Amino acid sequence: MSPQVRARVQSLRALIEHHARRYYEQDAPEIPDAEYDRLFQELQQLEAAHPELRTPDSPTQRVLGQALQAFAPVVHAVPMLSIRTETDTTDAGAREFDARIRRELGLSPEDPLVRYSCELKFDGLAINLRYEHGVLVRAATRGDGETGEDVTQNIRTIHQIPLRLQSGSGQWPEVLEVRGEVYMRRDDFEALNERQRALIASGHRQEKTFVNPRNAAAGAVRQLDPAVAARRPLSFFAYGLGEVQGWGADDHKAPLTHSAILQALADWGLPVDEHRRVVDGAQGLVAFHQDIQSLRDGLPFDIDGVVYKVDDRATQERLGFVTREPRWAVAHKYPAQEQMTLLRAIDIQVGRTGKLTPVAKLEPVFVGGTTVSNATLHNEEEARRKDVREGDTVVVRRAGDVIPEVVSVVLERRPESVGAPFDLVQRLSGRCPVCESPIAREEGEVDWRCTGGLFCPAQRKHALLHFASRRAVDIEGLGDKVVEQLVDQGIVRTLPELYRLGVAKLAALDRMGEKSAANLVAAIEASKQTTLARFLFGLGIRHVGEATAKDLARHFGSIDRIMDASLDALLEVPDVGPTVARSIRGFFEQAHHREIVEQLRAAGVQWSEGQGVHGDTPRPLLGQTLVLTGTLPTLSRDAARDLIEAAGGKVAGSVSRKTHWVVAGAEAGSKLDKARELGVPVLDEEGLKALLARPAGEEGT
Ligand code: IVH
Repeated sequence: MSPQVRARVQSLRALIEHHARRYYEQDAPEIPDAEYDRLFQELQQLEAAHPELRTPDSPTQRVLGQALQAFAPVVHAVPMLSIRTETDTTDAGAREFDARIRRELGLSPEDPLVRYSCELKFDGLAINLRYEHGVLVRAATRGDGETGEDVTQNIRTIHQIPLRLQSGSGQWPEVLEVRGEVYMRRDDFEALNERQRALIASGHRQEKTFVNPRNAAAGAVRQLDPAVAARRPLSFFAYGLGEVQGWGADDHKAPLTHSAILQALADWGLPVDEHRRVVDGAQGLVAFHQDIQSLRDGLPFDIDGVVYKVDDRATQERLGFVTREPRWAVAHKYPAQEQMTLLRAIDIQVGRTGKLTPVAKLEPVFVGGTTVSNATLHNEEEARRKDVREGDTVVVRRAGDVIPEVVSVVLERRPESVGAPFDLVQRLSGRCPVCESPIAREEGEVDWRCTGGLFCPAQRKHALLHFASRRAVDIEGLGDKVVEQLVDQGIVRTLPELYRLGVAKLAALDRMGEKSAANLVAAIEASKQTTLARFLFGLGIRHVGEATAKDLARHFGSIDRIMDASLDALLEVPDVGPTVARSIRGFFEQAHHREIVEQLRAAGVQWSEGQGVHGDTPRPLLGQTLVLTGTLPTLSRDAARDLIEAAGGKVAGSVSRKTHWVVAGAEAGSKLDKARELGVPVLDEEGLKALLARPAGEEGT
């Protein structure tokens, strides 16, 4: 085989590894997916033609292998221990640990503070990765701590885990076992369950949805068919070591602290969480516990606490172990995000598009930091699959800003007197619980809907709230309570009637004074001046979210052209597919929807219209990405965004090399620093306005 082939294989691997890192780790791909696929296929073909060039660390070896009958046992060279859990979730838990360490070490109050490495306690499953000469040779589960299972095939599918260590900061030891947690990110978990629900709905009855990210991750790791595992998106964080050989030699000494070990692992290309921190004494532990607690809901993954470890390895050794747990580490928990409680009844709520959602009415329970008395059951299929019945004890979960949900039934606690299996149609006798219109379910969909449309008071309330919402025409002060009364008292039946409200009518409502009524009237008046995209979004057409509304407004330029657009014309809009196009067409085919648009225009709702993309509207920011940061002197965030998008630009959430401009106002933070670091030009509001006024196509700064 020619040296050229060998060289090409090597350069392909380097290229693929580089682009895989950009894509999977940095979320910043440099090349289109198709180009990546092409490189990958070329490598696969070369390896197929020259099997002698195939190595276990080749990127092609991530997804491969046969379905297994069972996992082979792996005896751990160094047992995989667990850690003691501090269940007192208050600050006292941290102080208690520090006090115990000081006692064990025989320290007096005059002695210096003990230094700790603080980490997150990831909620997944422990894995041991064995690298020999820098190459991943085996991955095993914890098992009983002595013997685990060989799950190498599945672990290879995790793109964050290097198949070969990078020589970042010095040579790696001959044998290096890395211990850490395999977990599933929340967004990956939601997307996975979404796909699972779609599979179930399309007849794959043997499929199931997952209860939480940890179970989904555990299921994926222990999946016998690696092809299935590869479709379950997993992530990994390293937090420690197992067996190590060849780290004592003079030229590469083992680090003296745990924090330095984590840094070394990071330098070799292993994912190590950025929230880790080295602190001194009990105060430091308490501060870490509190800081992370306040970040918890916003993290992209679940944690159930933090972990404190004595940082100095010699001190760790002195402290040693009690039975199977190290004395030098502890897990300090947070209040649980899952709790058991009694499900008293199942109600059915009607959403904006008529979607009927079964909602569990619960015995109030404190979970994820608040008291929860309602939890969603998503839809009939889910309620049935979980076999949730009135009178059951259920597990309720509330994590982050996600709506609380019923996760599962505790069957052991099911009483004799439990209700019948949930049957939505039977329960409702086929009629909407609010307006009594027939309910229906479209072919291939899981959701039942009320067919009453805006005749249904429930849908009408949602429609009004949606129209008034901040990203639609933005009527400040038109909230739940007001809309509820307006609809229930028959004061407002359609969107245009909002614009006939006077101070007197509003002031007569419950909990409304003259002053707030006058403010609301002013807000309604102000909302008349809007944009086509906001108006269109506000109409609440199914499948037309904010982004689609903007695309439509940009493409067609006027509401009349959108109302009259044929299916084919709609399909020409970027990102509009058949479902969306049909939904828009269907909406405007109904005379009363056109009537509503007319009446709103007659009431004075207005926006500027253009020629659409086929016309000659200037689009000076076409193809450019801007990032907004800080507070601008006159423009709100939304207003600035609208202007930029109308000029053809995009607004991104973070600064990268691909950002064309950063627009910074008062109290701009890290995004401004990042812009300076990357040399991205920075503008103030004046500068932005000047940019917007430029004729299209003018280049340069
Ligand atoms: S250290 C000897 N650090 O929590 C110490 N464990 O019982 C070994 N876990 O299932 C564990 N995050 O998988 C450690 N930052 C972290 C961790 C962590 C999660 C898991 C671990 C094990 C359990 C500890």
